[in-house]
Amino acid sequence: MTYQSLPKVELHSHLEGCAPPAFIRGLAAEKNIDISGIFNADGTYAFRDFDHFLKVYEAACTTLQTPQDFYRLTKAVLEESAAHGVVYQETFISPDFCGGGDLGAWRDYLAAMKQAADEMDDTITLRGIVTCIRHFGADEAKPAAHCAVETFGDFVIGFGMAGGEMAGRPSDFTYVFDQAREAGMPLTCHAGEWGGPDMVAETLDALKVARLGHGINARHDADLMKRIVEEEIVMEVCPISNIVLKAIPPDQRHPFDQLRDSGARVTVSTDDPPFFHTTMTAEFAYLAETFGYGEEDFAALNQTALDAAFCDDATRAKIAKRLETA
Ligand code: ADE
Ligand code: ZN
Repeated sequence: MTYQSLPKVELHSHLEGCAPPAFIRGLAAEKNIDISGIFNADGTYAFRDFDHFLKVYEAACTTLQTPQDFYRLTKAVLEESAAHGVVYQETFISPDFCGGGDLGAWRDYLAAMKQAADEMDDTITLRGIVTCIRHFGADEAKPAAHCAVETFGDFVIGFGMAGGEMAGRPSDFTYVFDQAREAGMPLTCHAGEWGGPDMVAETLDALKVARLGHGINARHDADLMKRIVEEEIVMEVCPISNIVLKAIPPDQRHPFDQLRDSGARVTVSTDDPPFFHTTMTAEFAYLAETFGYGEEDFAALNQTALDAAFCDDATRAKIAKRLETA
Protein backbone atom coordinates (compact mmCIF):
# COMPACT_ATOMS: atom_id res chain seq x y z
CA MET A 1 0.00 0.00 0.00
CA THR A 2 1.29 3.48 -0.73
CA TYR A 3 0.53 5.32 2.48
CA GLN A 4 1.52 8.65 0.99
CA SER A 5 -1.42 8.79 -1.39
CA LEU A 6 -4.06 7.91 1.24
CA PRO A 7 -6.08 10.98 2.30
CA LYS A 8 -5.45 12.11 5.88
CA VAL A 9 -7.04 14.30 8.55
CA GLU A 10 -4.63 15.73 11.12
CA LEU A 11 -5.74 17.47 14.34
CA HIS A 12 -2.50 18.01 16.30
CA SER A 13 0.33 20.05 14.82
CA HIS A 14 2.20 23.16 15.93
CA LEU A 15 2.65 25.65 13.10
CA GLU A 16 6.18 26.72 14.01
CA GLY A 17 6.99 23.11 14.86
CA CYS A 18 6.20 22.18 11.25
CA ALA A 19 8.86 24.61 9.94
CA PRO A 20 11.44 22.79 7.84
CA PRO A 21 14.94 23.44 9.29
CA ALA A 22 16.16 24.76 5.92
CA PHE A 23 13.35 27.33 5.98
CA ILE A 24 14.35 28.54 9.47
CA ARG A 25 18.04 28.58 8.47
CA GLY A 26 17.14 30.69 5.44
CA LEU A 27 15.24 33.22 7.57
CA ALA A 28 18.13 33.34 10.06
CA ALA A 29 20.59 34.10 7.23
CA GLU A 30 18.32 36.83 5.82
CA LYS A 31 18.12 38.50 9.21
CA ASN A 32 21.68 37.84 10.39
CA ILE A 33 20.51 35.83 13.41
CA ASP A 34 22.97 33.26 14.70
CA ILE A 35 21.05 30.14 15.70
CA SER A 36 23.60 27.69 14.28
CA GLY A 37 23.61 25.92 17.66
CA ILE A 38 20.12 24.49 17.14
CA PHE A 39 21.13 22.44 14.11
CA ASN A 40 23.04 19.19 13.71
CA ALA A 41 25.82 19.02 11.12
CA ASP A 42 23.39 17.39 8.68
CA GLY A 43 21.01 20.37 8.97
CA THR A 44 18.36 18.71 11.18
CA TYR A 45 17.21 20.21 14.49
CA ALA A 46 19.40 19.24 17.46
CA PHE A 47 17.90 18.60 20.92
CA ARG A 48 18.64 16.28 23.83
CA ASP A 49 15.28 15.88 25.53
CA PHE A 50 11.86 17.52 25.83
CA ASP A 51 12.98 20.58 27.83
CA HIS A 52 15.83 21.19 25.40
CA PHE A 53 13.42 20.65 22.49
CA LEU A 54 11.25 23.51 23.82
CA LYS A 55 14.34 25.78 23.98
CA VAL A 56 15.38 24.86 20.43
CA TYR A 57 11.78 25.41 19.28
CA GLU A 58 11.73 28.90 20.81
CA ALA A 59 15.14 29.73 19.30
CA ALA A 60 13.82 28.71 15.87
CA CYS A 61 10.81 31.00 16.47
CA THR A 62 13.09 34.03 16.92
CA THR A 63 13.57 34.05 13.14
CA LEU A 64 9.80 34.42 12.58
CA GLN A 65 9.39 38.15 13.08
CA THR A 66 6.77 39.49 10.67
CA PRO A 67 3.37 38.55 9.22
CA GLN A 68 5.15 37.94 5.88
CA ASP A 69 7.41 35.37 7.62
CA PHE A 70 4.26 33.59 8.83
CA TYR A 71 2.74 33.78 5.33
CA ARG A 72 5.82 32.03 3.95
CA LEU A 73 5.87 29.54 6.83
CA THR A 74 2.21 28.63 6.38
CA LYS A 75 2.70 28.15 2.63
CA ALA A 76 5.76 25.92 3.17
CA VAL A 77 3.98 23.85 5.82
CA LEU A 78 0.85 23.32 3.73
CA GLU A 79 2.83 22.29 0.65
CA GLU A 80 4.59 19.65 2.74
CA SER A 81 1.39 18.39 4.39
CA ALA A 82 -0.46 18.25 1.06
CA ALA A 83 2.39 16.20 -0.42
CA HIS A 84 1.58 13.60 2.26
CA GLY A 85 -2.10 13.44 1.44
CA VAL A 86 -3.34 15.63 4.28
CA VAL A 87 -6.66 17.16 3.19
CA TYR A 88 -7.56 18.82 6.51
CA GLN A 89 -5.15 20.08 9.16
CA GLU A 90 -5.65 21.87 12.44
CA THR A 91 -2.57 23.65 13.71
CA PHE A 92 -1.67 25.37 16.96
CA ILE A 93 -0.90 29.06 16.55
CA SER A 94 0.40 31.22 19.37
CA PRO A 95 0.02 34.99 19.93
CA ASP A 96 3.17 34.73 22.08
CA PHE A 97 5.18 34.01 18.92
CA CYS A 98 3.22 36.50 16.79
CA GLY A 99 3.60 39.99 18.22
CA GLY A 100 3.89 39.00 21.90
CA GLY A 101 0.16 38.90 22.68
CA ASP A 102 -0.72 42.32 21.22
CA LEU A 103 -4.17 42.06 19.62
CA GLY A 104 -3.47 44.48 16.75
CA ALA A 105 -0.27 42.66 15.83
CA TRP A 106 -2.02 39.29 16.20
CA ARG A 107 -4.67 40.31 13.67
CA ASP A 108 -1.94 41.14 11.13
CA TYR A 109 -0.14 37.82 11.65
CA LEU A 110 -3.42 35.95 11.48
CA ALA A 111 -4.41 37.67 8.21
CA ALA A 112 -1.11 36.54 6.70
CA MET A 113 -1.61 32.91 7.81
CA LYS A 114 -5.19 32.93 6.57
CA GLN A 115 -4.15 34.33 3.20
CA ALA A 116 -1.68 31.49 2.72
CA ALA A 117 -4.32 28.98 3.86
CA ASP A 118 -6.95 30.40 1.50
CA GLU A 119 -4.53 30.13 -1.43
CA MET A 120 -4.09 26.40 -0.72
CA ASP A 121 -7.68 25.57 0.17
CA ASP A 122 -8.44 23.61 -3.02
CA THR A 123 -5.69 21.17 -2.01
CA ILE A 124 -5.68 21.26 1.79
CA THR A 125 -7.89 23.02 4.33
CA LEU A 126 -6.11 24.60 7.31
CA ARG A 127 -7.68 25.87 10.53
CA GLY A 128 -6.01 27.41 13.58
CA ILE A 129 -6.30 26.63 17.28
CA VAL A 130 -4.93 29.46 19.40
CA THR A 131 -2.69 28.16 22.17
CA CYS A 132 -1.22 29.74 25.24
CA ILE A 133 2.18 28.40 26.31
CA ARG A 134 2.02 26.74 29.71
CA HIS A 135 5.60 27.37 30.86
CA PHE A 136 5.21 31.10 30.15
CA GLY A 137 2.75 31.12 33.08
CA ALA A 138 -0.92 31.78 33.78
CA ASP A 139 -0.62 35.59 33.56
CA GLU A 140 0.94 35.47 30.11
CA ALA A 141 -1.87 33.18 29.00
CA LYS A 142 -4.39 36.01 29.42
CA PRO A 143 -3.34 38.12 26.39
CA ALA A 144 -3.21 34.90 24.33
CA ALA A 145 -6.78 34.02 25.39
CA HIS A 146 -7.89 37.58 24.65
CA CYS A 147 -6.42 37.30 21.14
CA ALA A 148 -8.21 33.95 20.77
CA VAL A 149 -11.69 35.10 21.72
CA GLU A 150 -11.41 38.34 19.71
CA THR A 151 -10.49 36.46 16.52
CA PHE A 152 -12.63 33.33 16.97
CA GLY A 153 -14.41 32.76 13.67
CA ASP A 154 -13.87 31.12 10.31
CA PHE A 155 -10.11 30.46 10.63
CA VAL A 156 -9.52 30.46 14.40
CA ILE A 157 -11.78 27.65 15.55
CA GLY A 158 -10.55 26.64 18.98
CA PHE A 159 -8.39 27.32 22.02
CA GLY A 160 -5.75 25.18 23.69
CA MET A 161 -2.51 25.00 25.63
CA ALA A 162 0.95 23.70 24.67
CA GLY A 163 4.35 23.98 26.35
CA GLY A 164 6.05 22.24 29.26
CA GLU A 165 3.39 20.12 30.94
CA MET A 166 5.10 19.94 34.32
CA ALA A 167 5.11 23.75 34.78
CA GLY A 168 2.37 24.49 37.34
CA ARG A 169 -0.96 22.70 37.50
CA PRO A 170 -3.74 22.56 34.90
CA SER A 171 -6.12 24.39 37.25
CA ASP A 172 -3.79 27.44 37.18
CA PHE A 173 -5.29 28.02 33.73
CA THR A 174 -8.97 27.73 34.68
CA TYR A 175 -9.52 31.46 34.08
CA VAL A 176 -8.38 31.49 30.46
CA PHE A 177 -10.13 28.24 29.55
CA ASP A 178 -13.35 29.59 31.15
CA GLN A 179 -12.96 32.75 29.08
CA ALA A 180 -12.55 30.79 25.84
CA ARG A 181 -15.43 28.41 26.69
CA GLU A 182 -17.74 31.32 27.51
CA ALA A 183 -16.93 32.75 24.06
CA GLY A 184 -18.12 29.43 22.59
CA MET A 185 -14.68 28.13 21.63
CA PRO A 186 -14.04 24.37 21.44
CA LEU A 187 -11.16 23.36 23.73
CA THR A 188 -8.14 21.07 23.70
CA CYS A 189 -5.12 20.84 25.99
CA HIS A 190 -1.83 18.95 26.07
CA ALA A 191 -2.05 16.56 29.02
CA GLY A 192 -0.69 13.15 29.86
CA GLU A 193 2.28 13.47 27.53
CA TRP A 194 4.59 13.88 30.54
CA GLY A 195 2.13 14.21 33.40
CA GLY A 196 0.46 11.25 35.03
CA PRO A 197 -3.24 10.36 35.22
CA ASP A 198 -3.69 13.05 37.90
CA MET A 199 -2.72 15.76 35.39
CA VAL A 200 -5.14 14.34 32.81
CA ALA A 201 -7.99 14.15 35.33
CA GLU A 202 -7.33 17.70 36.54
CA THR A 203 -7.28 18.91 32.91
CA LEU A 204 -10.71 17.34 32.34
CA ASP A 205 -12.11 18.60 35.66
CA ALA A 206 -10.76 22.16 35.62
CA LEU A 207 -10.38 23.01 31.94
CA LYS A 208 -13.31 20.91 30.62
CA VAL A 209 -11.70 20.13 27.28
CA ALA A 210 -13.20 17.99 24.52
CA ARG A 211 -9.79 16.79 23.34
CA LEU A 212 -6.48 15.88 24.95
CA GLY A 213 -3.13 16.56 23.29
CA HIS A 214 -1.46 13.13 23.60
CA GLY A 215 -3.22 11.86 26.75
CA ILE A 216 -1.16 8.68 26.55
CA ASN A 217 -0.39 8.47 30.29
CA ALA A 218 -4.10 8.07 31.04
CA ARG A 219 -3.48 4.40 30.22
CA HIS A 220 -1.99 3.91 33.69
CA ASP A 221 -5.42 4.43 35.33
CA ALA A 222 -8.27 2.14 34.28
CA ASP A 223 -10.94 4.34 35.86
CA LEU A 224 -9.64 7.39 34.03
CA MET A 225 -9.65 5.50 30.73
CA LYS A 226 -13.25 4.50 31.47
CA ARG A 227 -14.09 8.15 32.02
CA ILE A 228 -12.39 9.16 28.75
CA VAL A 229 -14.43 6.55 26.89
CA GLU A 230 -17.72 7.48 28.60
CA GLU A 231 -17.24 11.21 28.11
CA GLU A 232 -16.14 10.62 24.50
CA ILE A 233 -12.94 12.60 25.02
CA VAL A 234 -10.80 12.59 21.87
CA MET A 235 -7.09 11.76 22.11
CA GLU A 236 -4.69 13.51 19.73
CA VAL A 237 -1.96 10.88 19.74
CA CYS A 238 1.41 11.51 18.05
CA PRO A 239 3.28 8.18 18.14
CA ILE A 240 6.60 9.14 16.55
CA SER A 241 6.83 12.34 18.63
CA ASN A 242 6.31 10.22 21.76
CA ILE A 243 8.98 7.75 20.68
CA VAL A 244 11.59 10.37 19.68
CA LEU A 245 11.07 12.44 22.87
CA LYS A 246 10.96 9.23 24.96
CA ALA A 247 7.53 10.00 26.38
CA ILE A 248 7.19 6.25 25.83
CA PRO A 249 10.21 4.38 27.26
CA PRO A 250 12.44 2.97 24.49
CA ASP A 251 11.83 -0.63 25.62
CA GLN A 252 8.04 -0.28 25.34
CA ARG A 253 5.70 -0.52 22.37
CA HIS A 254 3.66 2.59 21.73
CA PRO A 255 0.19 2.21 23.37
CA PHE A 256 -1.69 3.59 20.33
CA ASP A 257 -3.52 0.34 19.65
CA GLN A 258 -4.11 -0.31 23.37
CA LEU A 259 -5.79 3.09 23.72
CA ARG A 260 -7.92 2.41 20.66
CA ASP A 261 -8.84 -1.06 21.96
CA SER A 262 -10.01 0.49 25.21
CA GLY A 263 -12.74 2.23 23.22
CA ALA A 264 -11.29 5.75 23.35
CA ARG A 265 -11.64 8.06 20.36
CA VAL A 266 -8.02 7.97 19.19
CA THR A 267 -6.59 10.05 16.32
CA VAL A 268 -3.08 10.18 14.80
CA SER A 269 -0.96 13.27 14.20
CA THR A 270 2.66 14.39 13.74
CA ASP A 271 3.05 17.15 16.41
CA ASP A 272 6.23 18.83 15.08
CA PRO A 273 7.16 16.73 12.04
CA PRO A 274 10.65 17.94 11.00
CA PHE A 275 11.82 17.89 14.63
CA PHE A 276 10.81 14.24 14.98
CA HIS A 277 11.72 13.18 11.43
CA THR A 278 8.13 12.27 10.75
CA THR A 279 5.31 12.99 8.30
CA MET A 280 1.69 11.78 8.21
CA THR A 281 2.88 9.18 5.69
CA ALA A 282 5.45 7.96 8.23
CA GLU A 283 2.80 7.84 10.98
CA PHE A 284 0.49 5.69 8.82
CA ALA A 285 3.43 3.44 7.86
CA TYR A 286 4.39 3.08 11.54
CA LEU A 287 0.83 2.04 12.48
CA ALA A 288 0.72 -0.42 9.60
CA GLU A 289 4.07 -1.99 10.49
CA THR A 290 3.56 -2.04 14.27
CA PHE A 291 -0.11 -3.01 14.55
CA GLY A 292 -0.98 -4.32 11.08
CA TYR A 293 -3.35 -1.44 10.32
CA GLY A 294 -4.84 -1.41 6.85
CA GLU A 295 -7.09 0.79 4.75
CA GLU A 296 -10.15 0.21 6.98
CA ASP A 297 -8.24 1.35 10.08
CA PHE A 298 -6.95 4.45 8.33
CA ALA A 299 -10.44 5.31 7.08
CA ALA A 300 -11.75 4.89 10.64
CA LEU A 301 -8.96 7.10 12.05
CA ASN A 302 -9.78 9.79 9.48
CA GLN A 303 -13.46 9.61 10.38
CA THR A 304 -12.76 9.88 14.12
CA ALA A 305 -10.56 12.91 13.44
CA LEU A 306 -13.10 14.55 11.15
CA ASP A 307 -15.90 14.00 13.69
CA ALA A 308 -13.68 15.60 16.38
CA ALA A 309 -12.47 18.50 14.21
CA PHE A 310 -13.42 21.92 15.56
CA CYS A 311 -14.46 23.24 12.11
CA ASP A 312 -18.02 24.16 11.13
CA ASP A 313 -20.39 21.62 9.57
CA ALA A 314 -20.03 22.98 6.02
CA THR A 315 -16.25 22.43 6.19
CA ARG A 316 -16.77 18.99 7.74
CA ALA A 317 -19.11 18.04 4.88
CA LYS A 318 -16.61 19.31 2.30
CA ILE A 319 -13.80 17.26 3.82
CA ALA A 320 -16.04 14.18 4.11
CA LYS A 321 -16.62 14.40 0.34
CA ARG A 322 -12.90 14.70 -0.27
CA LEU A 323 -12.31 11.55 1.81
CA GLU A 324 -15.04 9.68 -0.10
CA THR A 325 -13.73 10.57 -3.54
CA ALA A 326 -10.02 10.22 -2.81
N1 ADE B 1 5.03 22.49 21.71
C1 ADE B 1 5.48 21.94 20.57
N2 ADE B 1 5.47 20.59 20.66
C2 ADE B 1 5.00 20.29 21.89
C3 ADE B 1 4.75 19.08 22.58
N3 ADE B 1 4.98 17.88 22.03
N4 ADE B 1 4.28 19.16 23.85
C4 ADE B 1 4.06 20.35 24.41
N5 ADE B 1 4.28 21.50 23.81
C5 ADE B 1 4.74 21.49 22.56
ZN1 ZN C 1 1.83 19.02 20.65
